[in-house]
Amino acid sequence: MKRILVTGGAGFIGSHLCKKLLQQGHKVICLDNMYTGTYENIKSFHENKNFDFINADITSPIELEIDQIYNLACPASPVHYQHDPIMTAKTSFLGALNVLELAKKNKARVLQASTSEIYGDPLIHPQTEKYRGNVNTIGPRACYDEGKRIAETLFFDYQRQYGVDIRVVRIFNTYGPNMLKNDGRVISNFIVQALNNEDITIYGDGTQTRSFCYVDDLVDGLIKMMENDNFSGPVNLGNPHEMTVYELAQIIIEKTGSNSRIVYNDLPEDDPIKRKPVIKLAKEKLNWQPIVSISEGLDRTIEYFKTKI
Ligand SMILES: NC(=O)c1ccc[n+]([C@@H]2O[C@H](COP(=O)([O-])OP(=O)(O)OC[C@H]3O[C@@H](n4cnc5c(N)ncnc54)[C@H](O)[C@@H]3O)[C@@H](O)[C@H]2O)c1
Repeated sequence: MKRILVTGGAGFIGSHLCKKLLQQGHKVICLDNMYTGTYENIKSFHENKNFDFINADITSPIELEIDQIYNLACPASPVHYQHDPIMTAKTSFLGALNVLELAKKNKARVLQASTSEIYGDPLIHPQTEKYRGNVNTIGPRACYDEGKRIAETLFFDYQRQYGVDIRVVRIFNTYGPNMLKNDGRVISNFIVQALNNEDITIYGDGTQTRSFCYVDDLVDGLIKMMENDNFSGPVNLGNPHEMTVYELAQIIIEKTGSNSRIVYNDLPEDDPIKRKPVIKLAKEKLNWQPIVSISEGLDRTIEYFKTKI
């Protein structure tokens, strides 16, 4: 049994990670400032004596005794991270600094939830970990993209300078239950609009592609990376199955039996046109690959949102 800190544990991915770690019998300390996290996501864990919740901000130093840290604290959807971009940059940088200091003191292993956004609007396709990215440093997405890039830099500098035991994963689009209804991510948006029989809004012409990973697969990958003793990363975790945003809208309309029409809006600034991970490294080093199909994952996510609407 390990003492494990999950920052951002009340959020979408964090809540699934806490659940899995509790099932494995660990002591889980969830630290969250509830910016995009919800009490609903962690409500069921409170009866478990191995679960603790700390309402705190990752931009302040943390004092705890722990064996492992998963650093997930950071709003992940453009609507939320652009709402207060300076806070997003602070969360990314100071949050990384504070968890690294805590790991250094405790001699703990620390995993950073980085992102495919560090590749920006990629000039090569699909993206391997060797690709260094194409990020607009002054655009509206930069608070997040550059925040996550400097966090990766800090992680590797703490490894080089202090020997901190780091793990860095680059997460590609992930979806599933516990996403917020209103966070503007494409899958939650389309499902909520379809269930309400509202127009489904596609930004751009719908030919941009995305690849979507179901959250259970992603959580397995995070834990495999944490438990791996010889590999710091960075490693891509995502589902390489690529589809256009238009195709996604069609599948969701069909699955929900919705009367929604598809309408088109302008593409937001710096929105990436293509995104697809190469997961060769994750397969080789972690023996990991996603197993939940988009059809099955969407069914589970639609069932979840039906209970929220
Ligand atoms: N969901 C994805 O597709 C995706 C893709 C790439 C990377 N990621 C990364 O994974 C992590 C989790 O993403 P998510 O989708 O669960 O997002 P989320 O917004 O649901 O969860 C983030 C959590 O962090 C908390 N938080 C934010 N700022 C904080 C702060 N300053 N102090 C303490 N807590 C804070 C929020 O309240 C929330 O509970 C994020 O770091 C995100 O960048 C997610």
